[in-house]
Amino acid sequence: MNISITDIEKFVFPKLDDMNAFHTRQCREIGAILAEKEHADKTVVDVALMFHDIGRCRPYKGAAHDHGEASARIAAKFMYDKHYPGEFAGKVLHCITAHSTPRRRHVNHPLASAAPMPETKEAKVVYDADMIQALSSFGLVKHLRRNAGLPWRDMVADAKLSFEAKYKTLQTRSGKRTAKPRYEKVKEFLGGLQ
Ligand SMILES: [Fe+2]
Ligand SMILES: [Fe+2]
Repeated sequence: MNISITDIEKFVFPKLDDMNAFHTRQCREIGAILAEKEHADKTVVDVALMFHDIGRCRPYKGAAHDHGEASARIAAKFMYDKHYPGEFAGKVLHCITAHSTPRRRHVNHPLASAAPMPETKEAKVVYDADMIQALSSFGLVKHLRRNAGLPWRDMVADAKLSFEAKYKTLQTRSGKRTAKPRYEKVKEFLGGLQ
């Protein structure tokens, strides 16, 4: 199987804005550790994490609401053009399309029912890496900035719900263990806002 991580990096990173490039880099680091601990396929996890948010970035019109689908379409075309084996591509695409379903279900997001749950070990690791990266000062600032137009009380309440959803829907044992101290810090920070 001829998969060049460098080729994917060269394709993906110039298309990501600073914020998503930072997020994606850290997701990959977390994903590599979790994949090892969970005995998941590291290459599937890494390729999926590189592509997982590309659909929300500017060259693809930033389809934030259903970016899992958008990202999967971009990854599918890339892997098809590079003649990646179908089985490998299928595993990667499942990770990408399922990467935010459990959190969305937790908060009754309208798109949640249409998206698949992470079924494979790799998809669960990808999900957890994405959520764990967001359980951080980065995730807090990103979330609060996006909701800065809301009344203060609503902004804080929404952040509490959202970060609780990230933590409570983690899919792997190692993910939960890694996330716990991060979630405690996030809760403490948010508790200080009210
Ligand atoms: Fe995402
Ligand atoms: Fe993400």
